[in-house]
Amino acid sequence: MASSSIRFAIVLLLHVILLVQLLPVHSDDEDDHLLQGINSFRQSANVPPLAKHDNADCLAEEIADELEHRPCASNTASNTQLANYQSLIRKCKIDINTTTDGVILPVCVPDRVAPLVLTNYTESQNSGYLNNSRYTGVGMAHEDDWTVLVLATNTPGGSFANKACLLNIITSNHLVSLFLGVFLAFVG
Ligand SMILES: *[C@@H]1O[C@H](CO)[C@@H](O)[C@H](O)[C@H]1NC(C)=O
Ligand SMILES: *[C@@H]1O[C@H](CO)[C@@H](O)[C@H](O)[C@H]1NC(C)=O
Ligand SMILES: *[C@@H]1O[C@H](CO)[C@@H](O)[C@H](O)[C@H]1NC(C)=O
Repeated sequence: MASSSIRFAIVLLLHVILLVQLLPVHSDDEDDHLLQGINSFRQSANVPPLAKHDNADCLAEEIADELEHRPCASNTASNTQLANYQSLIRKCKIDINTTTDGVILPVCVPDRVAPLVLTNYTESQNSGYLNNSRYTGVGMAHEDDWTVLVLATNTPGGSFANKACLLNIITSNHLVSLFLGVFLAFVG
């Protein structure tokens, strides 16, 4: 009896660990505030709010990591060049054909002073993208002085969809945790 309840405890623990790992990676106050600011800007332009987009988030994270050590002076609006853009796309397992209608908006503000970051999006040439209803999803990340937004559309050309891959499907839900649980329940 004792051994079966220990086994049950182990299975339970494993489920908890695996499920915690599968929860959304981060919910960041700074990003949330910026998104609120951008969405009220959109509201005033009569366009629907942007929703968080996981794959765009992944790409924004990779791009922010890339830009991290670049000086702010290279902040020339939206044409910051990334030589390895394709490999960043690949790291996030995104099908590159679903990124062409999206847009990447990096902004560099020393110390990321929040009101300045927001106005760099809403009161610069970036605003023309952010008040546009064709964009529906957003990925956000920040590193050092850089903030990166990746805007996605709800059309195939800008959906930042995953490359078709069976492994993605299996690992993207908690089937793995279930299999492991079932497996352990039968061991011993
Ligand atoms: C993307 O589109 C091009 C041409 O339309 C095609 O050759 C290529 O295989 C596509 N790539 C992927 C990953 O689907
Ligand atoms: C954008 O940020 C820079 C600092 O990098 C600041 O000097 C500038 O005033 C900001 N522009 C807007 C429109 O907010
Ligand atoms: C969006 O911004 C651009 C440039 O800032 C402006 O020309 C356009 O009228 C705006 N569109 C809406 C829907 O507010």
